[in-house]
Amino acid sequence: MLTKERLQNFETGLNPLAPQSSPIPCEIMGYGEISTVLKIDNDSDLAAKRMPMFSSISAADEYAGNYQSYCNRLREAGLNVPEDTTISVNGHGGITVLYILQKQLPPERFCHKLIHSEAPDYISGMVHLIVKEIEKVWTYNAEHEPNLKLAIDGQLSNWVLLESGELLFIDTSTPLMHEAGREVLDPELLIQSAPSFLRWLIRWQFLDDVMSRYYDRRLVYTDLIANLYKEQQPELVTPWIEIINAETGNRMESLDKKQIESYYKEDKVIWSLFLGLRRLDRFIKTKLLGQRYEFVLPGKIKR
Ligand SMILES: Nc1ncnc2c1ncn2[C@@H]1O[C@H](COP(=O)(O)OP(=O)(O)OP(=O)(O)O)[C@@H](O)[C@H]1O
Ligand SMILES: [Mg+2]
Repeated sequence: MLTKERLQNFETGLNPLAPQSSPIPCEIMGYGEISTVLKIDNDSDLAAKRMPMFSSISAADEYAGNYQSYCNRLREAGLNVPEDTTISVNGHGGITVLYILQKQLPPERFCHKLIHSEAPDYISGMVHLIVKEIEKVWTYNAEHEPNLKLAIDGQLSNWVLLESGELLFIDTSTPLMHEAGREVLDPELLIQSAPSFLRWLIRWQFLDDVMSRYYDRRLVYTDLIANLYKEQQPELVTPWIEIINAETGNRMESLDKKQIESYYKEDKVIWSLFLGLRRLDRFIKTKLLGQRYEFVLPGKIKR
């Protein structure tokens, strides 16, 4: 059991440059643009999503509240969202770190893994199931217009299909939703994970785009299929376009392969540039300025 006290000790002892060498053991289960997903203290029940971007306890509490209502609304819409809790602890330099503790799920059952391990029939069944779940969000939004609108990041690595046939949605740590026409998530929190010298550019050029794409049915499906290029399964693109076009019928303008390809290319450039610049920012902060860099980034550290 990960108690608040144990997590506080973990956070206090954590070196974000080398999380695996922390006094309390930890393994990295996944990287996000914002959160890092950790297995802490050999606890095989929990996936701990670490979010080190709050200037106060009340800011973390507010985020946790929004997070809970996002999960509850997804459940109301009919999606399976794993059990969870949140705990906030004191970080270094006066910040507050929020941990979202989600039930840990078997890594090999994540859908971006299953497309490499399962037979074609199973995989097309899986896509049908994912589309059915995503459609529940649009149905929910139509029923709650104009008071409430949920966003969803439908990419493959956010879905877990258990052997029992149950499909779970796990990417709930960025609670994007509109209440009475207003975005609930404070964009400045997302910006915290960006390199400091680029924040003005991201605010100006990219933020609106990133924050609005997950509300748009066609973009959510475009993003889902674009994943197939990253996963080196381009032969699935055409069959998936056909499945999704058939399932969504006249509710959406048909998906187009060329558009998906160029979406993928652009997205790849943006995210790899973003990661490269985050590494540069970390280098400047830690090596040149002797400061602490809070985010755990993928890839090796040069020492
Ligand atoms: N409950 C879990 N059990 C096991 N592994 C998980 C779990 N949640 C996440 N992971 C691993 O971590 C990866 C990233 O998780 P998740 O989708 O929650 O974060 P994200 O995409 O970075 O989201 P964000 O940046 O919005 O926080 C997953 O694709 C998966 O490999
Ligand atoms: Mg994800």
